[in-house]
Amino acid sequence: MLPLGITCHPDKHRFYLVSENSTYVIGVTLDKKLVLNLYWGPRLYSMDDIPAAQLQPERSSQDPALTTAPEEYPYFGGLRFGETSLKVTFPSGTRELDLAFVDHYIHNSHHLVITLQDQYYEDVVVCLHYKICVKTGLIERSATISNRSSSSFSLHIDKMLSAAWHLPPTINNKSRQLTTLNGAWSAETQVNTTVNLHTNNQYTLGSTRGIPSAQAYPYFALTSESNLPNRQDTYFGAIAWSGNWTIRMDVDYQGQVRISGGLQPLDFGLTLEAGETFTTPVFMAGYSSLGIFGARQLLPRYLQQGKINPILYNSWEAAGFDVNIQQQLDLANEAAKLGVELFVLDDGWFRGRTSDKAGLGDWFYDENKFPNGLKPLADHVHSLGMKFGLWFEPEMVNPDSSLYREHPDWVYHYRERPRSEARHQLVLDLTNEQVRSYIYDRLRHNIMEIGVDYIKWDMNRPISEAGSQLLNNNNTPFGQDERDAREVWISHVNMFYHLLKQLKTDFPGLLIESCSSGGGRADPGVLKMVDQCWVSDNTQPDARLIIQHGISSVLPPSMMSCWVTDMPQEDPGYKSIPLSYRFHVAFMGALGIGSNILKYTDEQKTEATNWIKLYIKLRHILQLGDLDWLHADHTRFLVTMTTIPNEAVLLAFRPSSPFWFPIPPIRLRKLDPKAKYELELWTTHNDSQVETYSGANLMYKGLDLPYLTSGAYKSVVVWIKKISDS
Ligand code: GLA
Repeated sequence: MLPLGITCHPDKHRFYLVSENSTYVIGVTLDKKLVLNLYWGPRLYSMDDIPAAQLQPERSSQDPALTTAPEEYPYFGGLRFGETSLKVTFPSGTRELDLAFVDHYIHNSHHLVITLQDQYYEDVVVCLHYKICVKTGLIERSATISNRSSSSFSLHIDKMLSAAWHLPPTINNKSRQLTTLNGAWSAETQVNTTVNLHTNNQYTLGSTRGIPSAQAYPYFALTSESNLPNRQDTYFGAIAWSGNWTIRMDVDYQGQVRISGGLQPLDFGLTLEAGETFTTPVFMAGYSSLGIFGARQLLPRYLQQGKINPILYNSWEAAGFDVNIQQQLDLANEAAKLGVELFVLDDGWFRGRTSDKAGLGDWFYDENKFPNGLKPLADHVHSLGMKFGLWFEPEMVNPDSSLYREHPDWVYHYRERPRSEARHQLVLDLTNEQVRSYIYDRLRHNIMEIGVDYIKWDMNRPISEAGSQLLNNNNTPFGQDERDAREVWISHVNMFYHLLKQLKTDFPGLLIESCSSGGGRADPGVLKMVDQCWVSDNTQPDARLIIQHGISSVLPPSMMSCWVTDMPQEDPGYKSIPLSYRFHVAFMGALGIGSNILKYTDEQKTEATNWIKLYIKLRHILQLGDLDWLHADHTRFLVTMTTIPNEAVLLAFRPSSPFWFPIPPIRLRKLDPKAKYELELWTTHNDSQVETYSGANLMYKGLDLPYLTSGAYKSVVVWIKKISDS
């Protein structure tokens, strides 16, 4: 019987990574030359289910066996012509590796390290890391390369991905569907499906912007028919890296899929001097036999931090850059009355910041807007029982700022090239220690002097002209004794992580929200460092439902910031979107308010207060539960169900639809058919009605929501509680 966790076969050539719902098997061929994937799919129970690793015979000399072999980490070398995970150049001019298995190590039955060594350059060692979560089956993979030589031998790395995953051909060569999360600024993480992946084809996703980007999220899911009835094999994964990334899917002539991913190869380069080691970011992936539905449960559950985030107010949409002490005090008073727990002052609070044209970098309060600084505001916010939050964009500088005038060479640039501005700003060179200590010093002083409990860390442009004067003074690509200037892409992200870690260490209770003009930096890497992510600048409820549908494939609801705002303000019809609808859309994650609450009528204030009270009652489910989409037809109706043991919350929406089709009964999931459930329903009114049903009724016949049929922007909140087992 195979236990949960990682086990090695007595032959020392097979490794089993077993979770509650899946198994992943790795095998080493007898000659120790190859490390192959032997199996990935539903859980196995016996070691002997999977025969020892063997290279399959080749089809022809033009289709070498090595090229089609499901190698765990296919490097560039020999007869490998498929996508490779690793390519190096030796000082001798040899541009290939020849690795063989030397050893393995299992730590606490959940971390496996497989060590490979070059057959000629024995000082070059590659370690493959696997960490398994036995509850969800998520496997975290990364790779380490070491130059263990004691001489001055330097190794150049031309390309290094985190992992290659292999999927077997589908049953009867049936089609395989690819799901990705792509978009644009203010239109992030839209669920895209490519219906059929063709053999001998490749699909590439990625970012070269220095951030994961709004254009493509580092996520994939591949679904195909299972050989088990009513099941769907789904393999899904995401890269934990807040910079340039790639995910490439290659389907070979046999229908086998190789998914390679990690650091973006474009403009990649690293030099490993003697004694140095480099480890890639993590590429995590999992398997579910329950289709996209199963994948959606496992990844967010794996990334869930298990803590409730406070209800926030932020005046960005209401005030823009036009902030001042009196207005903020007034907003804080209103926010506190509504039940807000965290009051955030966004952009516009620092010197020279009257628009996006100036001020970034000068993190000192604006004396015209806040004559006595921000402490009086923070003190007032605290006296109202709320936490105080502040916006920063630490990696940036406007050329129109004191910082830039004093240190024009603190930004990434090439000496002989113009510096491209985006949103009138340039990117600070985080690899420069002086830059980092300036940034950290300003953050630390403001946090301590003002009494800041939360920061929103923004990044409003991609990185371009990534020349770091520090990494390479000669601006040459690389040389024997110099670091490769292209390391800058990796160093920037590592230094960003370093600053976040330092903040969390020095200010243990500090909450951090990651933002990059919306959802441009909300990858699983940053999720490990921060408390929540701003997922889009688009807060129009219809758009938000589409964006939340996508990002909730990865983000646990507690980390997905969702706001109630007045958007779209330019549309005269916007007032027809009721406050109830706006709140219910924002109930899906960590609730925030961005409306101009100084303009709320008394009636709106009462309504908002009541919705906030209800949210507080339900947020142990809404933030910490598994968020599942029962329907996501953005032109007709949408339904989510967030579940914890014995309780759930259903949110149902009818957007503005031109057709007025009736809404069918909504069939719920994950209930006990024999049990009795009490349902409490809220619509636009703050009064609820209570109904009782069996689990079977709710799951098989379905719940009628007639209220949704009666017009646009109708929504319902349903609290489902198990009241008896039968
Ligand atoms: C970005 C963010 C917004 C806001 C502005 C401030 O666009 O996504 O939420 O903070 O910057 O300039």
